[in-house]
Amino acid sequence: MAASTNGPQSPALDVKNLGVSYFTSSGEVKAADGVTFSIMSGKRMGLVGESGSGKTTTALALMRLIKPPGRITSGTAVIDNTDLLSLNDEEMRNAKLSKIALVPQGAMNSLNPVAKVKNQIIDGLRDHDADYSANQYRELINELLTKVGLSPQVGDMYPHELSGGMKQRVTIAIAISMGPNVIIADEPTSALDVVVQRQIMETLAELQEELGAAILLIGHDIGLMAQFVDTLGVMYAGRLVETGTLRQLLREPKHPYTQMLIDSLPSLERQDRKRGDLRGIPGTAPSLYALPSGCPFHPRCPQAMDICPSEEPVLKVVNDDNQSEQLAACLLY
Ligand SMILES: Nc1ncnc2c1ncn2[C@@H]1O[C@H](COP(=O)(O)OP(=O)(O)OP(=O)(O)O)[C@@H](O)[C@H]1O
Ligand SMILES: [Mg+2]
Repeated sequence: MAASTNGPQSPALDVKNLGVSYFTSSGEVKAADGVTFSIMSGKRMGLVGESGSGKTTTALALMRLIKPPGRITSGTAVIDNTDLLSLNDEEMRNAKLSKIALVPQGAMNSLNPVAKVKNQIIDGLRDHDADYSANQYRELINELLTKVGLSPQVGDMYPHELSGGMKQRVTIAIAISMGPNVIIADEPTSALDVVVQRQIMETLAELQEELGAAILLIGHDIGLMAQFVDTLGVMYAGRLVETGTLRQLLREPKHPYTQMLIDSLPSLERQDRKRGDLRGIPGTAPSLYALPSGCPFHPRCPQAMDICPSEEPVLKVVNDDNQSEQLAACLLY
């Protein structure tokens, strides 16, 4: 029997030791450093961290969209036995939308203001030399728009005629147009009001289930994320400092930074009234230009030990219940 590469037990996306640096006049900034995680098929992973912690950098690297002065310096990112980071440009062009798709940060402002919605969807498909007749395009666009909860008439509209939520739905339609294995959504709802946020997340969840795709959801709002993801990754200063199931991280966060994040959340039952947001953590995120030595979190860490300024922690298994590993990069463990 042939081994299934898309079975529920195999990762849809397997990222190992991803490094991205920006080489600026002030020096090298390691915006992603040794980032390692995987997402199982059909699962949803959340990626949280303060502004500047490297979330978008990670997303852009997986899409091979890092521009100079940035460069991918290390790592692999495997989907379907293919390492995206070693594809040539032509191969990567084919992998985009079909294997991996991104709803970029600020996506709704990234739509072309002078092109009708339908033409923006077609542009993505054309990149794949899709040889469709005008009728087939029309049908596909109607189907995609309907799937994201828009009426087919939206295809003939321009972005300025749409609300923020509608524009965000268009960007989702583009992202799912070729049925990708992995969808990355970088703060897909941050500019929208709470009700629309929830509706968009629900649409995204439905589509992801329908496609059997994995999702990497990037955001600040753990409260919103908690209702949506299966696993969580926490980034700090370009590193992934803790990963595990949502339950593990909410109930038993191991890294002191994650503990502070979770402590700052109102109880989950009350999250409708008050929302948990990473921006409320005391202290300031370090500048990547002058990272503290050892563990970059040590100056803010309430549990810092003598060794923390001199030794750099790596991700280690800290909890292994039901075969789902919880990992933390902290010298306490
Ligand atoms: N074009 C660039 N040139 C130089 N440095 C950059 C560039 N883009 C990002 N960086 C550096 O990489 C770091 C990580 O940026 P990134 O956009 O990945 O953070 P983020 O976690 O997505 O933040 P946010 O929550 O604000 O979206 C920044 O702090 C910055 O130092
Ligand atoms: Mg970002």
